[in-house]
Amino acid sequence: MTTRRKFIHSTVAGSAAFAFSRYAGLTAAASASDSRIEILPNESLGTISPNIYGHFTEHLGGVIYDGIWVGPKSKVPNYDGLRRDLVDHMKRIKAPVIRYPGGCFADSYDWRDGVGPADKRPRRTNFWLGADSEKSPANHRFEPNEFGTNEFVRFCKLIGAEPYLAANVRSLPAQEFARWVEYCNSPEGSTALADLRAQSGSPQPYNVQYWGVGNESWGCGGNFTAEEYAIEFRRYSAWLPGYGRPLSLVASGPNDDVRSWTRGFLEEIVRKGRGELRNIFGLALHHYAWNLSRGKTNDWDKGKGDAVQFDAVDWYELLREGSSIEAMVEGHWQVMGEFDPEHHVKLVVDEWGPWYRPGSEATPGDILEQMPTLRDAVFSAMTLDIFNRHPEKVAMANCAQLINCLNSLYLAHEDRFVVTTVGRAFELYTPHQGGTSLRTIFSAPHADYNRDEKPATFWGLNGSASLKGKDLHLTVVNPHVSQSREAEIVIRGASAAATAAVLTHSDIHAHNTLDHRDVVIPQPTPVTIRDAAIHHVFPPASVTALSIRLA
Ligand code: AHR
Repeated sequence: MTTRRKFIHSTVAGSAAFAFSRYAGLTAAASASDSRIEILPNESLGTISPNIYGHFTEHLGGVIYDGIWVGPKSKVPNYDGLRRDLVDHMKRIKAPVIRYPGGCFADSYDWRDGVGPADKRPRRTNFWLGADSEKSPANHRFEPNEFGTNEFVRFCKLIGAEPYLAANVRSLPAQEFARWVEYCNSPEGSTALADLRAQSGSPQPYNVQYWGVGNESWGCGGNFTAEEYAIEFRRYSAWLPGYGRPLSLVASGPNDDVRSWTRGFLEEIVRKGRGELRNIFGLALHHYAWNLSRGKTNDWDKGKGDAVQFDAVDWYELLREGSSIEAMVEGHWQVMGEFDPEHHVKLVVDEWGPWYRPGSEATPGDILEQMPTLRDAVFSAMTLDIFNRHPEKVAMANCAQLINCLNSLYLAHEDRFVVTTVGRAFELYTPHQGGTSLRTIFSAPHADYNRDEKPATFWGLNGSASLKGKDLHLTVVNPHVSQSREAEIVIRGASAAATAAVLTHSDIHAHNTLDHRDVVIPQPTPVTIRDAAIHHVFPPASVTALSIRLA
């Protein structure tokens, strides 16, 4: 049987639908106020870290080359080689943090290959060589190193995002991690590496705060046991200078719900005393929703579904897979509390999103590229709501990945660029960044469906609310494929005025392509205020953002 771990192993070592109905119109709106949303302004859950709206970029397929980097001589509009449309859109959604250079690639990467004069940088075999197809452009299989630390930091600075670098623990010694930090952060004129950075145009330190100590160290990042990795983590993080910038180190954490990793890692870390926890900012959790087999298999290849051709059951099954991340966050948090009762260490969900089988790539040959549809917008919104509801636990999250890969916010090829349905969902969530998350109670009829002759059910409405001063932002997902919900929205102890925008479509498969870019875009939608409550109709298969001004 193929697992994700085996898939990555085999792709590196070697190579690694059905008809859908349009949902005939939308059924008539459910009877008035079949649902209720109660927001409790006095019940704060904590501050939503802007960093949970973070991104992930890897030297993989079309992410870096073609996606982000077009080169300074390209006819594609660019800022010194960086795709201009991408930078501009990321500024618009206030992208707070970007993880780089992987992923699995990170544990094969020598950061020195990507610095110094561009024409002197070596060409290397890319980690993902084996996953690539014959159709792929050569630079997907071989790493030209035109894009490295300097270009990445410049990309972040243009956007106003913090860089988050993942260090190589599997195949480079701890000293090289320390040297990479020195290259990025040592003061102007202080060391040979600071001089090298200055020669590339940046005498000022990059002041990189966030550093990953490896990636998926249970798999492609070294195949360690949790205990072995904890020992490596202690070694890589011991006496690491930040050069005036306190470093926030992220330890490689569990896959999905594997709590034995969390427990084994922390047990070994605190063997040298609880003080060791001070070296850890976050524990990385990865969760991909991929198994659409309805319980028939756990095989990584056979269990996946199609990105674009799916039925209503696949829709709900994907959302169910994705929503399980909430129980994972709670479960790992509980284990973390056994070793760290004050919860100094937070969760960093630095890879999340759906993962479909190949076949829907906008650019044939781009490995792990898939076409996001309305389903992925709803999935992403639901996931962001989950993070918003756990602000004390989740300190950062990074959608996998930014462009031309998996749950992309953007697709691009040569001079064409599109904001996907996922990117459109992110636009609706930007105002949550830095807000105070408020306890909010949703009650709505569930979505019932038939899962291979067995009754199945999924929640009816869910979302999150946050407050900044008198501005309340409420985001709501209606996952039902064919029924709208009319909700009475009550804000305890307050009256309000509101506007709303909705992301939806009459076809649940709808998507934005490089040729048809505005199929699914947020639309303003009217809000009714009646008897001191907001009344709103949430269309089927929709994501809605309400901006509410408290009186
Ligand atoms: O995002 C694609 C891959 O998925 C990453 O490289 C790896 O960390 C994960 O298994």
